[in-house]
Amino acid sequence: MCGIVGYIGEREKKEFILNGLKELEYRGYDSAGLAVLKDGEITHFKAVGKLENLVEKTKNFKSEGFGLAIGHTRWATHGKPTELNAHPHLGEFSYVIHNGIIENYQELKKELQEKGVNFISQTDSEVIVHLFEENLKNGKEPFEAFEETIKLLKGAYAILLITKADPKKIFFAKNLVPLIVGKNDEDEIFFSSSDAPLIGFADEVIYLNDKDYGYAQKGEIALFSEGIKQETLFKPLNIGKLSAQKDGYRFFMEKEIYEQSAVSSETIMGRVAKDDIVLEDIEDDFFADIKEITICACGTSYHAALATSYLFERVSKIKTTVEIASEFRYKEPLLLKDTLFVVISQSGETADTLQALKMAKEAGLKTLSICNVDNSSIVRLSDKTLLTRAGIEKGVASTKAFTTQVLLLWILSLKLALLRGAIDKEYFHKERKIISKVPEVLKVDEKIHEKIRRLSKRYLHGHGFFFIGRDIFFPLALEGALKLKEISYLHAEGYPAGEMKHGPIALADSELFTVALMPKSLLYDKVKSNVEELSARDATILALSPLEFEIADDFIKTKGYDHPMLEFFEMSVIVQLLALEISVRLGNDVDMPRNLAKSVTVE
Ligand code: G6P
Repeated sequence: MCGIVGYIGEREKKEFILNGLKELEYRGYDSAGLAVLKDGEITHFKAVGKLENLVEKTKNFKSEGFGLAIGHTRWATHGKPTELNAHPHLGEFSYVIHNGIIENYQELKKELQEKGVNFISQTDSEVIVHLFEENLKNGKEPFEAFEETIKLLKGAYAILLITKADPKKIFFAKNLVPLIVGKNDEDEIFFSSSDAPLIGFADEVIYLNDKDYGYAQKGEIALFSEGIKQETLFKPLNIGKLSAQKDGYRFFMEKEIYEQSAVSSETIMGRVAKDDIVLEDIEDDFFADIKEITICACGTSYHAALATSYLFERVSKIKTTVEIASEFRYKEPLLLKDTLFVVISQSGETADTLQALKMAKEAGLKTLSICNVDNSSIVRLSDKTLLTRAGIEKGVASTKAFTTQVLLLWILSLKLALLRGAIDKEYFHKERKIISKVPEVLKVDEKIHEKIRRLSKRYLHGHGFFFIGRDIFFPLALEGALKLKEISYLHAEGYPAGEMKHGPIALADSELFTVALMPKSLLYDKVKSNVEELSARDATILALSPLEFEIADDFIKTKGYDHPMLEFFEMSVIVQLLALEISVRLGNDVDMPRNLAKSVTVE
């Protein structure tokens, strides 16, 4: 989703901004722009499409010497991805970049238009710069004019504004979407919507809170909230998360699939002890008096929630409900205090999940986040956090974040099972051994990858895919289908295998591709009958199973572990690779698929 960077200092500003935007590229965008304010003059550039287009446009532009700069990648929400709609948006002498959505922009725009202000874009963001200039014209000082502007905005925003009326300052504001201010001891000031662009530049940072705003100029960062000046409490920037490189893989997604084995060891590390599960700073008391669990998430994280909800009920014996965050927010849910509210989010910034978490907190529920990004908004808001430790994930289609979420929730289900006496030590010891095998199971088998590469050419057409499975393999079927549609743009659905006969089987013919998840350790015969029903109607079957299955048109033989979770992880890798190879053959942008964003900070 949109990315923001800003800079004050002596450095070549264009380079810093373009490199910063490059770091944010993986979030998804469809246009980009930057503006530099130097010696009282502002120069700006915008380009539609990839960042290379902006690089090309700015190739003869130099911006050395002291000055200010702002840059933005836009993921279209209001208005098409055109140059006019790209940020920065300009007034007569000021420029603004904005992430988020200004919900009341239409009213504000109408009022401004009635005063004769001319709008040139279709965006909600443009109102900010005109409101600011209108306030200035009414005699306000620049910072006062900015403060007044922010007060009028409803919705989500991370804003940076520069103006010739006060050419030494960047004005900033944050609500509901992330914004970070950084500095170093060379008197440079940085802004960004996430850590990555700041690594190697800023030493210390502040993760702004909602409703924070202020201004920055050489030697001064002034922070305010509700009109009151705040102390600036900087903390060291965590440089452990070095920016990800492809390391010889064709795509980040491919690299991230291959990394799953290594990062899953990190997920387990220190958490699975001989006789207990140890969850960092979460005391056992935290789980006392909990009668139910609600897990709330979006996208792939929602599938991790669904898969592990089976474990919370079956192993921990706790009633567990799974909710899609965007639905949960408006259903007026019954929030009971003895419910543990778990949110899952790779990015920790997903707007719907964050709002659901706020609702649960306000209702007084205990909240726990499962997240991959430390210091993200969701982590900061929840009572307790368990980090998945998957490392930065750049491919928009989530892979290692998913498997580490499932693994971590499985570990959590055992903790709750132990606390509630739902399992005995013997059961725990067996599970503990199984968990230690996960990194091995997640290793990509080169032979299987090669087979998938060859098979993929047969699956580039047809009128759709059904991924089917039962029990925890049903959410995996949903995830396999999601991966495929995200990066191949082919229609795919995940379905419970036993439910196909209640409607979807009507679609069966040779052009309907069924990817059947047929583990041997869980309900094999039941799934087999369901696949046979489809095969009898001439559907094309690609079966994933350790047991030979004669009627399959294509067959990927898995190793056949005895534990459903191990089969789950093995098949997770296979469905990810299948999506990857189909997308490669179709010539799509695997890491940055059309229309999608890595971190969705709007509703
Ligand atoms: C976006 C991404 C998905 C992701 C979903 C939830 O739609 O493209 O890959 O699953 O957001 O993201 P989260 O960061 O909350 O897990």
